[in-house]
Amino acid sequence: MITNKVITTIVVLVTINGYALQSVPHHLDITLPEDGWLNFTGLAQKYGLNCAVYDVTTEDGYILKLFHIPGNKDPVLIMHGILDTADTFILRGNSSLVAALHEQGYDVWVGNSRGSRYSRRHQELNPDTDRAFWNFSFHEMGYYDLPAVIDFILEKTGASMLSAIGHSQGNQIFYVLGASRPEYNEKINIIIALAPICFLHNVIPPVSGLVAMGPMLDIMLQMIDKEEILGDNDISRELIDLMCLKSLFGYKLCVEGVIFPFAGTDYTEFEPEFSRIVLAHYPSGTSRINAVHLMQVAQKREFVYFDHGVSGNMALYNSSVPPKYDLGRVTMKVALIAAKNDKISALRDVRILKRKLPNLAYYKVLDYPLFNHLDYNWGKNMKKYLFPYVFKVLRTFGNR
Ligand SMILES: *[C@@H]1O[C@H](CO)[C@@H](O)[C@H](O)[C@H]1NC(C)=O
Ligand SMILES: *[C@@H]1O[C@H](CO)[C@@H](O)[C@H](O)[C@H]1NC(C)=O
Ligand SMILES: *[C@@H]1O[C@H](CO)[C@@H](O)[C@H](O)[C@H]1NC(C)=O
Ligand SMILES: *[C@@H]1O[C@H](CO)[C@@H](O)[C@H](O)[C@H]1NC(C)=O
Repeated sequence: MITNKVITTIVVLVTINGYALQSVPHHLDITLPEDGWLNFTGLAQKYGLNCAVYDVTTEDGYILKLFHIPGNKDPVLIMHGILDTADTFILRGNSSLVAALHEQGYDVWVGNSRGSRYSRRHQELNPDTDRAFWNFSFHEMGYYDLPAVIDFILEKTGASMLSAIGHSQGNQIFYVLGASRPEYNEKINIIIALAPICFLHNVIPPVSGLVAMGPMLDIMLQMIDKEEILGDNDISRELIDLMCLKSLFGYKLCVEGVIFPFAGTDYTEFEPEFSRIVLAHYPSGTSRINAVHLMQVAQKREFVYFDHGVSGNMALYNSSVPPKYDLGRVTMKVALIAAKNDKISALRDVRILKRKLPNLAYYKVLDYPLFNHLDYNWGKNMKKYLFPYVFKVLRTFGNR
């Protein structure tokens, strides 16, 4: 029933939108700003940043793109969240995190998790035809992707440790890493967690509604044999292009209608013109299984390994239920930076994480009351509301 409603709504919106498009006067040219088309290296060049590109291969054969903007200070690795890519950290151009870190002299590295636009490659598996390519969740991003990327950077730079910044799932994977491969705790000065994600007990509507609908959505995806979700070659991309980018009401439909309800409403930090640049880059795909794993964490109210069902769990974990990630083993320093208007990284969940981490170095709830889940990447005034805290932590806990 809910599905019918959703489908009807989409059909109606697409129809209205198609009609509106046809009736747009020709002088009203809805074209995308240049930054909507440029990829990471293109944006770096445009904003005067020297950027090298590397392919890093993981132990299990995934080939990940890693961007490097060289600087004299210590290496800082930045990791994006779910459905996102490295692009997110440079979309604001001269006001972006990448530009700000570079300006401060840091040696900036920006990673791309498996399955996303730049890391949709494997030594043997074809993402378009092999379902096995998509058999991963945030677990594998923490267990395989991070070690490969961290070791690559340390080897290239000759440094013995690096600092890291992770947004949303981009910090969650560091708790997986610390808990499941504790030797990597020694290689990280500090992880600065922007919009910390670990426990998902307290997500609020409509995020909680999505969690509740999760099992049904999962069955539907399995029925249509869909292992990659919201990827660039998907019908969803065409819908987003049509509804969000080419439409006169793109901001209403996509930002007010979808992004704000899920991430928190903040008009001043996310203006219509810039939102179209963002929505040309976001979302980039991930696996169905990644979404299922997050849903399991929310439903079980524990930070658990993937639940493969009783027989799968017995084979993998020697236990009928999946074990919990032992946060006591995450001995790297962690800085938690959270916000009051973030509906996904709810403050109550961040406080649970804060209590369980053995080496919490810093905790900050940002002052700007409307700061939401995505202002960390896309906010117009990150320089004012966010960066001072990030730099303070890097200065205090970085190598030098
Ligand atoms: C970015 O786009 C340019 C021009 O289309 C292309 O040559 C380059 O390979 C792309 N870079 C990446 C990292 O995909
Ligand atoms: C970005 O900043 C650089 C150096 O501060 C400046 O030269 C350049 O014009 C700016 N680029 C844009 C597109 O604003
Ligand atoms: C997916 O990976 C898990 C290990 O993480 C393995 O046990 C399982 O058999 C794999 N499933 C498929 C369909 O390849
Ligand atoms: C599996 O668990 C059982 C009971 O918890 C234990 O006795 C056994 O040694 C374990 N087997 C392995 C291979 O770890």
